[in-house]
Amino acid sequence: MIKKLLQYVGEYKKDSILTPIYIIGEAFMEILIPFVTASIIDKGIEAGDMSKVYQYGAIMLILAFLSLFFGIQAGKTAARASAGFASNLREGMYENIQTFSFSNIDKFSTAGLVTRMTTDVTNVQNAYQMIIRITVRAPLMLICSMIMCFVINVKLSLIFLCVLILLGFALGFIIKCAMPVFNEVFSKYDDLNASVQENVTGIRVVKAFVREDFENKKFGKASEVLYKMFVKAESYLAFNNPVMMVAIYGCMLSLSWLSAHYIVGGTMTTGNLTSLFSYVMGMMMSLMMISMIFVMLSMSTASAKRIAEVLNEKADITNPEKPVMEVKNGDIDFNNVNFAYKHGSGEETLENIDLHIHSGETIGIIGGTGSGKSSFVNLISRLYDVSAGSVCVGNVDVRKYDIEVLRDEVAVVLQKNVLFSGTILDNLRWGKADATEEECKEVCHQACADEFIDRFPDGYNTYIEQGGNNVSGGQKQRLCIARALLKKPKVLILDDSTSAVDTATDARIREAFATKIPGTTKIIISQRISSIQGADRILVLDDGKISGFASHEELLQTNIIYKDIYNVQMQAGGDFDEKMN
Ligand SMILES: Nc1ncnc2c1ncn2[C@@H]1O[C@H](COP(=O)(O)OP(=O)(O)OP(=O)(O)O)[C@@H](O)[C@H]1O
Ligand SMILES: [Mg+2]
Repeated sequence: MIKKLLQYVGEYKKDSILTPIYIIGEAFMEILIPFVTASIIDKGIEAGDMSKVYQYGAIMLILAFLSLFFGIQAGKTAARASAGFASNLREGMYENIQTFSFSNIDKFSTAGLVTRMTTDVTNVQNAYQMIIRITVRAPLMLICSMIMCFVINVKLSLIFLCVLILLGFALGFIIKCAMPVFNEVFSKYDDLNASVQENVTGIRVVKAFVREDFENKKFGKASEVLYKMFVKAESYLAFNNPVMMVAIYGCMLSLSWLSAHYIVGGTMTTGNLTSLFSYVMGMMMSLMMISMIFVMLSMSTASAKRIAEVLNEKADITNPEKPVMEVKNGDIDFNNVNFAYKHGSGEETLENIDLHIHSGETIGIIGGTGSGKSSFVNLISRLYDVSAGSVCVGNVDVRKYDIEVLRDEVAVVLQKNVLFSGTILDNLRWGKADATEEECKEVCHQACADEFIDRFPDGYNTYIEQGGNNVSGGQKQRLCIARALLKKPKVLILDDSTSAVDTATDARIREAFATKIPGTTKIIISQRISSIQGADRILVLDDGKISGFASHEELLQTNIIYKDIYNVQMQAGGDFDEKMN
């Protein structure tokens, strides 16, 4: 996992290597400075020799400047390395997400993906910066300071060593308590993000159902849980400082007391005492940093794991080795197809589907909700792969095509279709990037979208808000149909795409299909008999199985389900919106 992530350091390797080098420089300067201080005191001040004071003072200044220089450089390179690493990670994840098939996407929640790309990447970024700076610096400072102490006075140093070990245990214990809580905090972040994401995207529905209070409470709960856990984790960490301080001042006191004896006895100098003070401080600080690194690392391993999951996720629908680059015609064949969303779960969404559709035919599909209509059509453009059997378009298995070629020729207007922020023209050109305005107008005419676009003051340059929130449901559907038509596909699939369009317009759109694109195979899913009764053949799906596949008249004679739906809709006087027109 670590290896996988480190690949993304990429062009920032140089900065990542330079940082520890600068840090080593900085640490050495900091270790030398107390040594020089001791010399100023002992050889200059105590001996009353001003020239020595200047001499050592100058050396100290140089060292201080060098340390500053290294420090600044290290800061710069570390920032570059970690921010660059994070941006590479984000790009890598984003690129991989784009290759995901529908079933890959089903595995991760949208909220989960967003957390992974934001919070988790930030965690890893911070940890990385910490690693290249402090994991080198802290142990180095600790060891060098210890050595210097031993050089100055072995007996006193032994005391520090004992205190240091005790302190190490204490800090370790604190971290051990805090770590599991931190790990849990991050899984809770997902819940919080899920709640936010769901509500913000569905805010209109929330308002319509006056669920604001409920949603506020739900969010409050998730937020409260997070708050409590953070407080718990942080309150463990809060012990770090007092423990440190006790250790530091304990050391100082014992140091002062003992060294007083040594200084009076003449075995130690005052300068040495001040150096010892600095080194002791340095050692304890380093130890504290090391303990913090552990917290940071454990926090970020959870994040790193979650990032690696996205990076390692292999798209399960990929191009074959030698893809077929041309779809010959709009023939569609389902050969004994079985399909389950979770492979091997035994819960087949579609069972034993075996049927053949000729190029240019218009096929209607009807069936209860959850009967597998969307699943059926999603197999044609290979949004999902079959579990058994095969689906062929133009007499070639869909798995043999180049995916882009196939999806260009099989245009689907999804049931949950979306528009993106941009003008109407921008949105239409998703279908064909280089389409002229004339072409766009032509398809809008076929989809009966021109009538309302012409009424917009900005016409085709009207700005569509994110998700298409500033156009009506029916308008959105017609734009989506136009977008699909622009591809001039060999197969056109409309998944309940005129449900929000009035029946008269619906009829006109079908009329346009029949006259303008006669060669295209059209598959129309609808809950309205009136939308599909004119189709050449109608497929009746029932619980993932074919219940009937014939013309309207034939089905009325032979298929009970179809007859029932027909009778219910006719008794209700047909479509109620039909009367209004
Ligand atoms: N992404 C998915 N992951 C798992 N199961 C799914 C998924 N999409 C649909 N299903 C299940 O597959 C079955 C068929 O769903 P499908 O969407 O094909 O029905 P449908 O006939 O299109 O219904 P509707 O008329 O409501 O659009 C349902 O039981 C549904 O719960
Ligand atoms: Mg559906």
